[in-house]
Amino acid sequence: MDPYFFAAEQTLNELQIPPQDLGTLDQSARAFQLSLQQGIKSFHAGLETETLGINGAYLGPTLRFNRGERVSLAVSNRIREASSLHWHGFHLPATEDGGPHQVIENGDTWNANFEVVQFAGTFWYHSHMEESSGEQVYRGLAGLIIIEDDDENLELPNTYGVDDIPLIVQDRRFNEDGSFSYMDTYDDLVIGVQGTDVLVNGTINPMFAPSTRLVRFRILNAANARTFDFALSNGQAFQQIASDGGLLEAPITQTSLQLAPAERAEILVEFNGQEPFNLISRGRTPSFPFFPGAMSELMRSLNSQELQILNLRPSSTLEASPTVPPQLASIYQLPAAAAENTRQFQLSMGAGMRSGNDAGPGTGARSGLGGGHGRGNYFINGRRMDMEYINERIPLNTTEIWELSNNSPMMHPFHIHNGQFQLLDRNGNPPPANERGWKDTVKVGSGERVRIIMRFTDFVNEENPYMYHCHILEHEDRGMMGQFVVV
Ligand code: C2O
Ligand code: CU
Ligand code: CU
Repeated sequence: MDPYFFAAEQTLNELQIPPQDLGTLDQSARAFQLSLQQGIKSFHAGLETETLGINGAYLGPTLRFNRGERVSLAVSNRIREASSLHWHGFHLPATEDGGPHQVIENGDTWNANFEVVQFAGTFWYHSHMEESSGEQVYRGLAGLIIIEDDDENLELPNTYGVDDIPLIVQDRRFNEDGSFSYMDTYDDLVIGVQGTDVLVNGTINPMFAPSTRLVRFRILNAANARTFDFALSNGQAFQQIASDGGLLEAPITQTSLQLAPAERAEILVEFNGQEPFNLISRGRTPSFPFFPGAMSELMRSLNSQELQILNLRPSSTLEASPTVPPQLASIYQLPAAAAENTRQFQLSMGAGMRSGNDAGPGTGARSGLGGGHGRGNYFINGRRMDMEYINERIPLNTTEIWELSNNSPMMHPFHIHNGQFQLLDRNGNPPPANERGWKDTVKVGSGERVRIIMRFTDFVNEENPYMYHCHILEHEDRGMMGQFVVV
């Protein structure tokens, strides 16, 4: 028996599959009705948790769009506090983006309407409320979007819930009474809120029984702050076929795959016998230097834990599956020479993010909020997010290189609204094969310099900005975000 196997006394729960929502076709668009609501869900048997959800108690339906069509989404807010709903990874006008400027007050309905110009792939939607995205997503305001493309006739597993399985992976911490524990420690403020329990599609200790030889998993890291390093407990390899923005050029054989918050990947896993195994997240060996104090301790503990994600128990008979196509897509690689402009973005963590002893006057920094002078401020280019300040103005029809660097002790996943970009290099080295497709979120490690390239070809709007930010939601909520307009 492999070391990661679920302890026998743990009860496994059948993996919940979010319902699909195909919308309804009216003359002009595929229309969706989404309601942000409060709910109660029992994650741990015998305990109830107050939650938020979209058309349900926790999380939302999987929305299905087709490339090339127009969609309209009526989002009504019934959660008794202001919110917003953002379509993550989409190329669309800023007014339809659902960012912090498209606030939906309690009781109101917001209508978004846009054309789906994306490639087929796995996207998502989530709350983007100014300063409370972290808490609202933690409580449940998130869901998956699958875009299909009629012109794409690759033979890939595509029966939702059978051989095409969404995995919305999150970590949560619960209080003894069953309620969510959120922002209760100094660690939460520094590294973001990480939990001890893994939820997949809202299921705790989940189990899935494949009935086909090949299963496509659409993995979304919907955690607030945790990076997962996915692997199979029996050491078996899998094939990654898609990244954030859609299919890769060809399947990539891997034995592990790191996804930071907001990153997605589609993988194909093969099942041959009846022997059960687990999808796990590997623990990382700490590389941060050891010195006395809370900061070193915290950074060394980051992602060092092994986690069990999903127990896989193949059925006794497995149906045949299509063979994996050797070629998936052809991706035009934007050449660095095409860029007219380069911008620099420096990610940093503010004062107060120190080790125990020098964390400032007053109460100790390890427990309780506050934690020293900085009170948890995060910056991009030395500035905190300001709703009234446009950080960058980008001339229409330009290709730009954004140089992302990080002088803080931890990794930040950098996300840009309004579409997909490509990686040019990491510290001057070509990106790994699975980062050569379309991306909207990219890991920028401590001390790293990552260059990305992006085109800005439409949606001029002087007034309404798009966001760029760290997708550790507690960092985003505390300033690590900026705004750009296309002019
Ligand atoms: Cu996932 Cu600014 O968003
Ligand atoms: Cu986004
Ligand atoms: Cu961050």
